[in-house]
Amino acid sequence: MILAPLRGVTVRSFREAFSSVMEEMGFTEAITPFISAMKGIDPLSDRELKNGPQGEAIAVTPQFIGKDPNELRRALRRIKDAGWERADLNGGCPFPMVRRKGRGSGLLKTPENLSRMLEAGCEEMPGGFSFKVRLGVDEPSELEKLMPIINNFPLRFLTVHARTARQMYEGECNKEALERICALSKVRVVVNGDLPVVPFDGANRETMVGRSFIRLLGKRVDIKEFLAKYVELSRQEFGCDRPVLGRMKELIAYWREIPQWSRLWNVVKICRTLDEFKSLL
Ligand SMILES: Cc1cc2nc3c(=O)[nH]c(=O)nc-3n(C[C@H](O)[C@H](O)[C@H](O)COP(=O)(O)O)c2cc1C
Repeated sequence: MILAPLRGVTVRSFREAFSSVMEEMGFTEAITPFISAMKGIDPLSDRELKNGPQGEAIAVTPQFIGKDPNELRRALRRIKDAGWERADLNGGCPFPMVRRKGRGSGLLKTPENLSRMLEAGCEEMPGGFSFKVRLGVDEPSELEKLMPIINNFPLRFLTVHARTARQMYEGECNKEALERICALSKVRVVVNGDLPVVPFDGANRETMVGRSFIRLLGKRVDIKEFLAKYVELSRQEFGCDRPVLGRMKELIAYWREIPQWSRLWNVVKICRTLDEFKSLL
């Protein structure tokens, strides 16, 4: 089971604070929230990769977002020189600003460029390059039509989030369309979208899990100790309080339906300082 990239949530400090819980629940790998493969950006200066390829308890795969195959090659060479042997490409980000520029799920609308991106990734990271994708931008049949292209490349695996980009993170996952992709794919499919914390789905396929794991954390009896650790590591990461408080609110928002958190959430969401927040733990 792979930990899904959740920007702002499953970040490095989170992974460090919760690595024992992740291992206990059966995660074998984590994909980082996306890092830009764009001109002028050094991936090694991204906070996500600061610990290096062996620096975390759980195996970490850097995820890139971009549309320029040469920039992707440059980013991959850079991390390869630092010892990373795996990388993932984001083909799912649904936000219009990203998508319309041909990045994230926008790659699904530019098949020729998608092909060049996959070629760049598989050439630069032989055996270690994976692709995470949606069923389509507008229609759940779009990915199916792209499978002849995707099948040309020796991907490590293909993760399918069984929604369209238009759906954002809402609405039902489309199981029928997902099954069609599983039948068509020549590479291993990792299934994703609203799945419980289980290593394999009903058809014995490997899963990638994000939000259901995050929600479960709120029910742990020792959660406040983990939170204290997460605060401490995030404070070290940012060197100041403000973004740490925002990060904690983002996490705890996932727990507002849990009885022991619902009242606390009302206090947390109006906290103004990190000290105020820490006093609640
Ligand atoms: C807050 C948030 C941030 C996300 N960030 C990323 C990201 O950086 N890269 C990516 O490929 N997917 C990202 N996703 C999508 C998730 O990885 C995953 O595909 C989606 O949440 C469905 O899986 P789940 O129901 O198990 O959470 C994000 C989702 C959310 C809710």
